Amino acid sequence: MILVTGATGHVGNELVRRLTAAGEPVRAMTRRPAEARLPEGATAVYGDADDPASLAAAFTGVTGAFLMSAQGVGAADGPTHDRALAEAAARAGVRRVVKLSVLDGGAGSDVIARWHAAAEAAVTDPSYGLAWTLLRPGRFMSNALQWAGQLRAGDEVSTPFADRPAASVDPADLAEIAAIALTTDEHGGATHELSGPQTLTPAEELRILGETLGRAVRLRPLPDDVARTGMSRYGFPPEVVDAIMHRTLNSDRGAEVLPTVEKLLGRPARTFAQWAGEHADAFTPRS
Ligand SMILES: NC(=O)c1ccc[n+]([C@@H]2O[C@H](COP(=O)([O-])OP(=O)(O)OC[C@H]3O[C@@H](n4cnc5c(N)ncnc54)[C@H](OP(=O)(O)O)[C@@H]3O)[C@@H](O)[C@H]2O)c1
Repeated sequence: MILVTGATGHVGNELVRRLTAAGEPVRAMTRRPAEARLPEGATAVYGDADDPASLAAAFTGVTGAFLMSAQGVGAADGPTHDRALAEAAARAGVRRVVKLSVLDGGAGSDVIARWHAAAEAAVTDPSYGLAWTLLRPGRFMSNALQWAGQLRAGDEVSTPFADRPAASVDPADLAEIAAIALTTDEHGGATHELSGPQTLTPAEELRILGETLGRAVRLRPLPDDVARTGMSRYGFPPEVVDAIMHRTLNSDRGAEVLPTVEKLLGRPARTFAQWAGEHADAFTPRS
C-alpha cells in the first residue's frame, strides 16, 4: 500500500493516477475525503498535518509514502508538517518515502533555506531509518493556474515578476519520478534537482498559453511592490517576504535547465506548451 499525501494537489493527484494505473493499491490522504475524486484502486483517507494524531491511521500498513507539505515558510516555528509526516511514517514502519522539497533544498542562509533544510532533515533523520528520496524542483508550470480566474473572465492577465525567467517543470514529470522512486529501490538516498526543458519568463508562458487557447491574451505587468504587498497581506512574515523578493529579483538559479528529468525518465521533460494543452479547460470561460 502506498500513501500519497497532498493527494488532491498538482503532484499528488497525478501520482495517484499513475500508481493506480500501474496496479498499485493507493491510499490518498486529504482533509476532505468525502470530496476526493479518485481513480479506481485508490481509497481516500482523512489526514491533517496540523493534527499529528490523525496521521497514525493514514500511515498504518503503508510500505511507501509520498510526503508533501503545504505549510508556508514561517507559518510556524519550524516545518511542523514535515516533522509530523516523517514521524508518522517512521512509527508505522514505512520503508520508502519520497519527499517533495524545493530547488536547492536548504542551501543558503536565509529564512527559506533554513526552513527547507529543517524540512529535509526531518525526513532524512537517520534515527527514522527511512529509505528516502528528495525531489527538489524549481517553479511548477501549474503556477500558471493563478491566471485561470482572469482568463475565464477576460483576455488580460495582471502578474508580477513577468520578466523573471524560470525553467518551470510539469508536476506530471515529478509524479512520474516519484512513482518510480516509490516502487523500486533505485532511488534510495538520492536527491534530484529538477527543472523543465526550457527557460521562459511568465510573459513568454502567457504568450504560449494564449496561442494554445487561440486567444489574443494581454499581459499587464504588476510592479514589484504590488507583489510585496500581496505577500504581506497573504500573511507571510516580513523576513519571508524579503527573502522571496531577494531570491526572485537577484537569482537566476531557477532559470537553469537541468538534465535530471530526461536522465531519470529516458525522454525529454514535458514542455510548457504540452502542459498548457492539457490544462486549457481551466482557462476557458464556463458557458
Ligand atoms: N509551486 C511551485 O512552484 C513549487 C516549486 C517547488 C516546490 N514546490 C513544493 O510543492 C508543494 C506543493 O505541491 P502541489 O502544487 O502538488 O500542492 P498543491 O496543489 O498546492 O496542493 C496542496 C495539497 O496540500 C494538502 N494540504 C493542505 N493543507 C494540509 C494539511 N494541513 N494537512 C495535510 N494536507 C494538507 C491539500 O490537501 P487537502 O486540501 O485535500 O487536504 C492539497 O492536496 C509544496 O511543498 C511546495 O513547497 C512548489
